Amino acid sequence: MPVNPWREIPPHSSLGVYTEHGLTPTLLSDFLSAASEAGCTMVYDPFVGSGVVVTYFQEKCIESAGADSNPWSLLLSRAKTLPLDWGAVRLWAERVEGEVGEFEPIVPSPRLARYHDARVLEDLGRLRALIEEAPGEWKPLLLAVLVRVAYRWSRLKRSPAPRFKDASQASGNVRLDFFSLLNKAISELEARRFCASVALFQADSSSWIPTRLCGVVTSPPFANNIDYIRHTMLELLWSGLARHSEDLGRLRSAQIPACEAAARTWKESSQHQWLRDLASRIGGSRAPGFKKFMLQYFHAMESHFSLISDSLEWEAWYTIGDSVLGGVYIPTHSILARLAEKSGLRASVKLLGPRMKRGRTLYLLRLAPQRKR
Ligand SMILES: C[S@@+](CC[C@H](N)C(=O)[O-])C[C@H]1O[C@@H](n2cnc3c(N)ncnc32)[C@H](O)[C@@H]1O
Repeated sequence: MPVNPWREIPPHSSLGVYTEHGLTPTLLSDFLSAASEAGCTMVYDPFVGSGVVVTYFQEKCIESAGADSNPWSLLLSRAKTLPLDWGAVRLWAERVEGEVGEFEPIVPSPRLARYHDARVLEDLGRLRALIEEAPGEWKPLLLAVLVRVAYRWSRLKRSPAPRFKDASQASGNVRLDFFSLLNKAISELEARRFCASVALFQADSSSWIPTRLCGVVTSPPFANNIDYIRHTMLELLWSGLARHSEDLGRLRSAQIPACEAAARTWKESSQHQWLRDLASRIGGSRAPGFKKFMLQYFHAMESHFSLISDSLEWEAWYTIGDSVLGGVYIPTHSILARLAEKSGLRASVKLLGPRMKRGRTLYLLRLAPQRKR
């Protein structure tokens, strides 16, 4: 079964990376060779997630920019790409480690009490209070470390959707965990090359992208019912980017509706008859929710392609997986290729290999303008 190779590669190994998305080091290296040959000096990722693309290109001294509608993605990508005075962070950590107990806990959302035992919540709250006092530009790193520790010490497990687990599974000490992971992250970051700038924007990429783009490489949401907001719920709550379920709901509304939870009555659905025919075959008790998000998903992706069609100078590469909804096979890759062509792009699809989910496949969708610019 393919795993996410970035889990073993710094700085993702300490700061975390989203689940399988097909953007392997080999694929990014192929993109880099082709983009350099085409004369692109800047790379764009409209669905930046945990920042694999921008981190990779920064290390290769190529400027990049990334967008995501989930603010946590931007904070985590910032933590991986912002050079700091590592010696100063280390000294600070050594100094404050013994002082954590004196801090009054800050628990940014009352919802957090659902996910942690009282003692753990208090320890995490003291660390959160400590972070509040730290210099502003260190906060992405410190928060990224805190939420990794918070997950380890929570009742949530990702499997792939977050579920409750027995909290007593974690052993050791929350504070020690925090400082040892922070030191590991600093060591990994210290060894990186920060030789190009990375710009990050919070944006809905179905309604906004920059006006000129040379090369795009990304993994958009797949139509497979994954709720990225639920997946990053602890992160959003501990960082203070969301406090209540209404905040989480608003963030879901800004997502490409790739899951039932992000579908909305007010969002537009695809009117293509061939897609509606496919949706009408979806069966089972969840058919109404699946049909709704699937048609909204393809509408949003078509809007995205129409923006890409206006801006793209060279090529856009998307890794994309197929899915099965209510017993019906959804060839997301070939549907997206057809929608991209309707939006005025040339599209080709290449098989990449099997997905983590048995029987599902990963593809590379390559798009180019109809006419050379
Ligand atoms: C498959 S993940 C990207 C993974 C990424 N390659 C990485 O390095 O982790 C898809 C991302 O698309 C983001 N997303 C969903 N809807 C979006 C929208 N309307 N605009 C921008 N980003 C969106 C999600 O928040 C998620 O981070």
